[in-house]
Amino acid sequence: MPAPLITGWGKCLPPAVLSNTDLEALTDTTDDWISTRTGMKERRVSHVETSDLAAAAGREALAAAGLDPEGLDLVIVATCTPDRLVPSAAALVQQKVGATRAAAMDLNAACSGFIYGLAVADQMIRAGAVRRVLLIGAEKLHFFLDFSDRATSVLFGDGAGAVVLEEAGEDGGLLAFELGADGTAAEILCIPQSGTEGFPGTERRARVQMEGPTVFRRAVEAMGDSALRVLEKAGLGLDEVDLFIPHQANLRIIEATARRLGLDASRVMVNLAAYGNTSAASIPIALAEALEQGRVRPGALLVLAAFGGGLTWAAAAY
Ligand code: COA
Repeated sequence: MPAPLITGWGKCLPPAVLSNTDLEALTDTTDDWISTRTGMKERRVSHVETSDLAAAAGREALAAAGLDPEGLDLVIVATCTPDRLVPSAAALVQQKVGATRAAAMDLNAACSGFIYGLAVADQMIRAGAVRRVLLIGAEKLHFFLDFSDRATSVLFGDGAGAVVLEEAGEDGGLLAFELGADGTAAEILCIPQSGTEGFPGTERRARVQMEGPTVFRRAVEAMGDSALRVLEKAGLGLDEVDLFIPHQANLRIIEATARRLGLDASRVMVNLAAYGNTSAASIPIALAEALEQGRVRPGALLVLAAFGGGLTWAAAAY
């Protein structure tokens, strides 16, 4: 069975920058607090919708793969901030990129969404159901932030990252993955009143709520443990990992996870200073930048790990 491979990648970061200093004017915070507690310096804010960011990243990935959009069989958008509940962001992307033959669906596993999508796309290709998939992580998170709440508003940003996966007839690709969830911890990171339980009304929007320190602890455990389990499933050791690409939620979470795994900074991809936490978009954006920076050589072993609302977590050895 030919291994599905990533044959193209792309990203879209909206040009408007919201710096830590800008946030000082919006909420009771300081550049120093945000920098030292999170590692973030700035994030992007989008004036267009999630599907626009997703389509821009998707077009770049298609160009990199040298693939016409009509060649796609499936578009998956991993997002928890779609333009609308119906139609899916993926259906809007299908139309925007001209993927006329493709099925389209959104996937919501919060910040773990891209790795969940990678597993779904890989397994559908291996099953022979589809041959070419455009997988995008895209978010417009600032819409769901309360800029008077300093505990959440400083952490998140907007953006999109995309990959094309194709049946490639070679070895490699996704060697092992793990997807996990603990719904009993749903309330520690959520956006209440953003669905059938109701909406806050026209004066207010639904807002991200989070128990930061609890999420922090769970994140370090979940990302470290699931990364170890996927390596074990793949029959590989930590010494063979070329690059660890974790979800970009907090530099201290990444450093604590890397310490648990015994990985030094040269083997860990970090770009959150520029973008903050872009949820499902964070890993594909980091992957695209690692590729652009020449940090991913042919045959490299990548380990991806994420956690997010749900709680969900996921890891992949690729
Ligand atoms: N600016 C200034 N002070 C702030 C602040 C901000 N933006 N946010 C919180 N504080 C204050 C708190 O009020 C608290 O003050 P107090 O000691 O007077 O009560 C103090 O800083 C420490 O707060 P705490 O929440 O314990 O800080 P922390 O070191 O745990 O850092 C987070 C807070 C949110 C950065 C951290 O817990 C975190 O990153 N958690 C995970 C979040 C995450 O990854 N979410 C997304 C998951 S996908």
